Amino acid sequence: MLNQSWRISDKEYEYLKAVLDSGFPGSSTINFTAKLEQLFAEKFASKYAISFTNGTATLHAALAAAKVGAGDEVIVPPLTMASTSFAVLHCGASPVFADIDPATFLISAESVKACITPKTKAILPVALYGLTPDMDAINAIARKHKLVVIEDNAQCFLGKYKGKVAGTLGDIASFSFQNSKHITCGEGGMVTTSNPEYAEFIRKFSSLGYGNVSAEPGKSKINKSDIVKPDFTRHICPGYNYRMSELCSAFALAQLERLEMFVTWRKKCAAGFAGAIKDVSWLIPQQTPPECENSYWTYTVKLNAPEIKWDDFYNKFKEFGGDGFYGAWRLTYTEPYFSKIIPDEHKNCPVAEATQPYLMQFKTNYGNDSDINKQADALYKTISYFQ
Ligand SMILES: Cc1ncc(COP(=O)(O)O)c(C=O)c1O
Repeated sequence: MLNQSWRISDKEYEYLKAVLDSGFPGSSTINFTAKLEQLFAEKFASKYAISFTNGTATLHAALAAAKVGAGDEVIVPPLTMASTSFAVLHCGASPVFADIDPATFLISAESVKACITPKTKAILPVALYGLTPDMDAINAIARKHKLVVIEDNAQCFLGKYKGKVAGTLGDIASFSFQNSKHITCGEGGMVTTSNPEYAEFIRKFSSLGYGNVSAEPGKSKINKSDIVKPDFTRHICPGYNYRMSELCSAFALAQLERLEMFVTWRKKCAAGFAGAIKDVSWLIPQQTPPECENSYWTYTVKLNAPEIKWDDFYNKFKEFGGDGFYGAWRLTYTEPYFSKIIPDEHKNCPVAEATQPYLMQFKTNYGNDSDINKQADALYKTISYFQ
């Protein structure tokens, strides 16, 4: 039995209790959301951090802030969780799929270039598995064509690119606190940006377009003394009520305070898996370029041995005491819904198609050496079995 209790400390209980004990009186006496946002902005070197219900709502808000709307196109990778593309659809726009790089499994800047049309409004690169794409190349394309760059960092906490933390590499960035992520509160998300106009729009969008909420510190919540008045004007723009609850903020703050520890364990775990495959030519790990620091949401390898079936490898890994692993999501445009609505000329990513079926995403959320060794050992034994 693997020990997962390490993910939750006394702090989570303490902060949750503080919210419960407060009796939910409103923002005046207790405001974990503001503390969470302030600390997140600090850790992610951004002027603003705005909390959300999840990391899909964050993408929707970021795209809306970039004025993505009906008739526009947004360039996305096909190898990712489908929220990336769903958020584009939420804005009434169309996802256009750029192929991936065969070594990093990330959106390829060359392929992005080929996807640009007069309708392109934004690029939405995904820091898949904890690794940032080639952001200098992507930003250069964006500058040339006046596009907005939105980082989908749902899987990348404290990953770095040329010394800069993920979340500061584009115009706006999105993070997820869903269960499997580096830090969690069950479901939740965060947007970072250093652009005051985007921040202001995103804060209002996350509420119900309230006129008196703002991205500035201390102004995240509606002002009670104003709204009691019968002639108070509330809604000045569209809003989706995507705000994070105080309970989730309290939990997420306790997690955020220990973020570095969570990332360190993920990296340790990845190092264990890397050790197990180091002499194996037919397991190809996601390649981390020298200018990047991978935060290893998962340790992902491509099974490059036609005679070994993915399912057989999975079953043997479990037999040897492994905790299982995930296959990659089907390419978004091959999912039934997307397949119907995406035109055929936008379903052309041969590298992603040749990669996705063979990926194995090993989990990295273990918080002690014994569990990490057990997983690495199971991988080592599985490899020896198939050698
Ligand atoms: C790359 C990516 N983008 C977006 C999301 C959406 O986040 P959430 O589940 O918090 O809505 C996820 C979540 O798993 C993800 O992995």
